[in-house]
Amino acid sequence: MAKKILIATVKPFAAQAVENVKKICSEKGYDLEIMEKYPEQNDLVKAVKSVDALIVRSDKVTKEVIDAAEDLKIVVRAGAGYDNLDCDAASARKIICMNTPGQNSNAVAELAFGMMVFMARGHFNGKPGTELKDKKLGIHAYGNVGRNVSRIAKGFDMEILAFDPFIDQQIMLDDGVKAVKTVEELYNQSDYLSLHIPSIPATQKSINRQLLTIMPQNATLINTARKEVIHEEDLIAVMQERTDLKYASDIAPVKKDELLEKFGTRVYFTPKKMGAQTLEANINAAVAAANQIINYFENGDTTFQVNK
Ligand code: 3PG
Repeated sequence: MAKKILIATVKPFAAQAVENVKKICSEKGYDLEIMEKYPEQNDLVKAVKSVDALIVRSDKVTKEVIDAAEDLKIVVRAGAGYDNLDCDAASARKIICMNTPGQNSNAVAELAFGMMVFMARGHFNGKPGTELKDKKLGIHAYGNVGRNVSRIAKGFDMEILAFDPFIDQQIMLDDGVKAVKTVEELYNQSDYLSLHIPSIPATQKSINRQLLTIMPQNATLINTARKEVIHEEDLIAVMQERTDLKYASDIAPVKKDELLEKFGTRVYFTPKKMGAQTLEANINAAVAAANQIINYFENGDTTFQVNK
């Protein structure tokens, strides 16, 4: 019997991305089911019952979902951050979890610059703003998105610094990026700070008073990573003390209304998380997810497994 792959996306992929996955599945003899914009988490719990493989975006693959998926062997998060997968629950059932690293990173990096320009130009209000040229850009975490940010920053003639204790500093130096030794050094120097850290227990609420207070005058923090890494209470307190500091995020904070009410145009939040929401990134990530699943079933390839 043909194996069944389910694409479950509250925020759908572009139609072309889904078409490409359909073609791959029919050529390779896999059944494909698609469930988009599902209103309730329980819909996902019900839909996974008899699937062999699951492709998701930021959809929450909880223990309840894993437990309901009797035939599930592999789940692929079509994207980078897999904080939405309960990897422990999957591991307990020997279910493989993967992500598709790098497939949507240019899209996220481009949005970070869109947000920087938007903030520098006062939300495009027609009044005099400032330029990115010659400003210092701090990149917090130099993975796939961080590297794309650094590539684009060169075109803006920015001075680039990065902090990432998990990456060989030579990679940054080869890219013409100054590798700073401490996170404090990064925050202390960056006129623009672009966040690319994952949400894990060690990073949650880590962007706190200590880091925010040492940012230079008129600094802007850009978050296209995760809301959980921000210490929101500290952010609000520091922005009240420092009327020069700005914050823009692609992920609506828990205290979004309070931030908007207190700080007006010093903050900006996209209406919906959209960093990876481009045609190109959707195609790259969806196709990679499908190919990784088929490659696992047919060749046992676990290259992108994250719950090893
Ligand atoms: C990622 O981790 O890849 C991004 O946050 C994209 O998330 P999305 O697929 O929900 O747009």
